Amino acid sequence: MKHLISSNQFTKEYLEELFGLIKDIKNDEKKYSKILDGKLVTTLFYEPSTRTRLSFEAAAQRLGAKIISTENAKEMSSAMKGESLKDTIRVTAGYADAIVIRHSDNDSAEVASSVSTVPIINAGSGSKEHPTQALLDMYTIKESKGNIDGIKVAVLGDLLYGRTVHSLIKLLALYNDVTIYGLSRETFKLPEEYINYLNDKNVKYVPCSSFEELPSDIDVLYHTRTQTERFVDKSGAKVEEFILNKEVLDRFSKQTIVMHPLPRNKEISEDVDSDERALYFKQAHNGMYTRMGILAKILGE
Ligand code: NCD
Repeated sequence: MKHLISSNQFTKEYLEELFGLIKDIKNDEKKYSKILDGKLVTTLFYEPSTRTRLSFEAAAQRLGAKIISTENAKEMSSAMKGESLKDTIRVTAGYADAIVIRHSDNDSAEVASSVSTVPIINAGSGSKEHPTQALLDMYTIKESKGNIDGIKVAVLGDLLYGRTVHSLIKLLALYNDVTIYGLSRETFKLPEEYINYLNDKNVKYVPCSSFEELPSDIDVLYHTRTQTERFVDKSGAKVEEFILNKEVLDRFSKQTIVMHPLPRNKEISEDVDSDERALYFKQAHNGMYTRMGILAKILGE
């Protein structure tokens, strides 16, 4: 695989192989510490990020690669001077062996890959895709549950603009007998195109409007933040509904895990953090190992 642009490009076999590699890296990191010696990775972030950029940079360095970075490319790069994304990529591709990019345009990673001579890795494009997040989410589910076939997953919150959800459900659809519940306000419901995608893949999708409609033995509660930055009219966007606190969580099974791509606002209360079912910080930590696996596969020999 050269570019990593979309969740669409994966097969179940690829995922399972990647999960094996991530597990091995977690168990024996030293073995991989020099595999990207002499490589240089660029991180080009036009949107805010903590976890994604830092975990990619940590991942690259832990594999022996070096990093050059613009953390605020929107204002600190030549984009401010009117340079097109294509021109920026044409130039930076000459400096590095791979480009990790986050950008607010839905087609930014595709546009970048159309002119890049080195691999493009999509670290979030508009509201459409965040494939490396979906990979780390899937790895975390696999690590916790052992098996993804037959799983019941609820995605919560902003299903309209949440790119992590959009990329995750496509990867879940690669497995057998998966049911996805979507709990959101009417205004944030999952767009038709994703519902059709799930239908085509024989994944059952159940839209819901309250916690009570979710089965108490659900395997995964995957919450998300309202993506306020994607709203044209920001009034009313900040209303947090479906707050998951300890009391609500306790209505679910002891096996129900709680995930969130982070950052969170108020949709998961801090009283959930100490519950052993709360996996979001572990999930973020898995992000670094997942990105080590991704870089090893794309840039390794
Ligand atoms: C997510 C993103 O950027 O889409 N964050 C992340 O990469 N972990 C989720 C979000 O910003 O809400």
